[in-house]
Amino acid sequence: MGLFSLVTGWPGPSGFGSASTAEQVTDGVDAAHLTAIITGGASGIGAETARVFALRGAHVIIAARNMEAANNVKELLVKSNPKAHVDVLQLDLSSLKSVRAFADKFISMNLPLNILINNAGVMFCPYQLSEDGIEMQFATNHLGHFSLTNLLLEKMKETSRSTGIEGRIVNLSSIAHLHTYEEGILFDKLNDRRGYSDKKAYGQSKLANILHANELSRRLKEEGANITANSVHPGLIMTNLMRHSFLLMRILKVFTCIFWKNVPQGAATTCYVALHPTLKGVTGKYFLDCNEEKPSALAREETLAKKLWDFSENLVKSAK
Ligand SMILES: NC(=O)c1ccc[n+]([C@@H]2O[C@H](COP(=O)([O-])OP(=O)(O)OC[C@H]3O[C@@H](n4cnc5c(N)ncnc54)[C@H](OP(=O)(O)O)[C@@H]3O)[C@@H](O)[C@H]2O)c1
Repeated sequence: MGLFSLVTGWPGPSGFGSASTAEQVTDGVDAAHLTAIITGGASGIGAETARVFALRGAHVIIAARNMEAANNVKELLVKSNPKAHVDVLQLDLSSLKSVRAFADKFISMNLPLNILINNAGVMFCPYQLSEDGIEMQFATNHLGHFSLTNLLLEKMKETSRSTGIEGRIVNLSSIAHLHTYEEGILFDKLNDRRGYSDKKAYGQSKLANILHANELSRRLKEEGANITANSVHPGLIMTNLMRHSFLLMRILKVFTCIFWKNVPQGAATTCYVALHPTLKGVTGKYFLDCNEEKPSALAREETLAKKLWDFSENLVKSAK
């Protein structure tokens, strides 16, 4: 998939490309037997992913920090599709306490869990520490999702064992994983204020999303669990994500408009990887425009992925 496909929407080997929408890539998919959690499902790509999952019959749990926005999305989804099965649960990924409370609440609901979409994210925030004392983009985009996934993994394993249906975990990464700090992940100075770059910190967190999916995939394979873990770049889409760089992005869009997608196209790769039957058993891969792609060399480093896993585990433990 090169520049030509990106600009023209010409389909790649999967039969889909940059112009494909989430509805198109899930055409004919029956998700009526599936339950999915979508973090950040109250806006942008997550809200469209929730809409299309519900359209295909899945029971969707929108995990959101802004309950008002999430309830509005739920209302809209049910209005446009009275059969939509949507619930809303509170989750603030920048707080490990909130992540634990969300997981406890979900587990107490006694529902199955087939699909976890780690979608929520923040981009280019000014330097800030989370309530656990961790750099905010890393805390929200990576660590919150790392902890959430671990807390829900047993439920996903139970579900796949009892139903025989493959579980799927999808991490929303970004092409921005290419633009990170030189070391990839700043293990020794994650919270260093002086060296902070809002762009590189975002790239670091998006690199972490790929490394997390890869190491998780390796562990699940080793255990023989019937669950896949992959990461995606959704494309360039004008959403609330740009709130800290609105002017910059608007200007950029003027010069690069041919590379941008709309939101239904932006949700396509997530929906393809989470729901498409041809991806059965495909794990530890990175997708862009609904086709497998090679991420950066750092993102492919197994030792870095293992190091990040241990580092993240220690951060979660020390925040308790
Ligand atoms: N748009 C793009 O061009 C693009 C490109 C590459 C990758 N991505 C990735 O795609 C994903 C979705 O982004 P989007 O473009 O759809 O942006 P968006 O519309 O801003 O959606 C992000 C969602 O994440 C939620 N969120 C942020 N911080 C949170 C927290 N601490 N706890 C819980 N939820 C939180 C936001 O909720 P609030 O409304 O409360 O903030 C929002 O609902 C992100 O991971 C992003 O990095 C997007």
